[in-house]
Amino acid sequence: MERSSRISGFYNLGLEEKLHRVKEFAGLTDEECEAIKVGRPSLDEVENMAENVIGVIGIPLGIATNFVINGKEYLIPMATEEPSVIAAASNGAKIARKKGGFFTTSTEPLMEVQIQTVRVSDPHAARNKIIENKDEIIRMANTQDPALIELGGGARDVEVRIVDGRLGRMLVTHLCVDTKDAMGANTVNRMAEYVAPFIENITGGKVYLRVVDNYAVKRLARARAIFDKEALGGEAAVEGMLYGYDCAYSDPHRATGHNKGTTNGISAVVLATGNDTRAIEAGYHAYAARDGQYRALPVWEKNAEGDLVGTLELPVAVGIVGGMSHAHPVARAALKILGVKSSRELGEILAAVGLAQKVAAERALAMEGIMFGHTKMHARSIATMAGAQGQEVRQIAEIMIKEGKVRFDRAKELVAVGKGKRE
Ligand code: MEV
Repeated sequence: MERSSRISGFYNLGLEEKLHRVKEFAGLTDEECEAIKVGRPSLDEVENMAENVIGVIGIPLGIATNFVINGKEYLIPMATEEPSVIAAASNGAKIARKKGGFFTTSTEPLMEVQIQTVRVSDPHAARNKIIENKDEIIRMANTQDPALIELGGGARDVEVRIVDGRLGRMLVTHLCVDTKDAMGANTVNRMAEYVAPFIENITGGKVYLRVVDNYAVKRLARARAIFDKEALGGEAAVEGMLYGYDCAYSDPHRATGHNKGTTNGISAVVLATGNDTRAIEAGYHAYAARDGQYRALPVWEKNAEGDLVGTLELPVAVGIVGGMSHAHPVARAALKILGVKSSRELGEILAAVGLAQKVAAERALAMEGIMFGHTKMHARSIATMAGAQGQEVRQIAEIMIKEGKVRFDRAKELVAVGKGKRE
């Protein structure tokens, strides 16, 4: 049977049935399903993941449906506490699907690490000296990760910038490393620390910083999709979305929310796959300000047919081996659900998810407003806060929506009535 991420009525299935469908789609084992369901890792498993651990905080793991990327069907695992994010991503993907889904590309997975050298009397000459020794620096760096070299990765290039700081001129050496399927921060940091004394020797300066460059502009992913104008709600929807984007492009205040509406989806996949959400978000926002002003990162245009065309290019420092993506049983299962074969493929998925997420938010803002989509989940969360349990949560949420009173005081009243009936 053809695998399809278009699972009609997925939203209305019970939790067990949803998991069963995902299990069938991705070929998950019973053990992997169990890990997802009970929210592993357990307390004793997380004890060594961070310091002073006292517990585990659960975040819902959901599945966005409808994604087709470069002709391949994907179910997207997303870890998020925010209602409507997963539904919105699924919705954006459903609209893109009409015109073939998402089309993506990416660069090689090149990470950079920076080595700062200060107190150099002749920075231009020192810069040349570092470049003259490029091969030796690369050779030295490559002694630090034999496994990566065996996989075909390793240090590739050395560049040196002269940066004017407030304390004086400094050299910033960039070591560029192909980290293959790893995110690579530990590897490049180790390499930088190892070559730093050599750089001090060559330049006569003092090295301080030796750390991964989170502005991962040599590790980019790009996505493109056409969003059918009728599926969006017609010409007015497209026009509203273009005006919304125009504001986000020109006004940093609006750009911040606009970009948050994109990273809502990206970070949820980054978290679900055990990757570093802060690294991705830092790179995203820096890239959004690369021309000197903080702007919307996804780009909307209108094509000759009047459809909305979306593109997104962003730095994607993510991995599918090592770190949490390996150590965390649910992250491992999430990668299996995605069926990704490389870090590049995962990066491209992030770009596609970002576009899907943003198109749904942009459409809602241009049309009915964002509260409409939020209400159902918001009502359920208020019902839960008011003490509703099990089936009661949905029942109370529905009553409040019908009454147009999605409020904590009303939820408490309804819980009290239910309680009275039960006693
Ligand atoms: C809410 O999490 C996200 C939005 O605010 C995004 C946006 O403003 O574009 C709806």
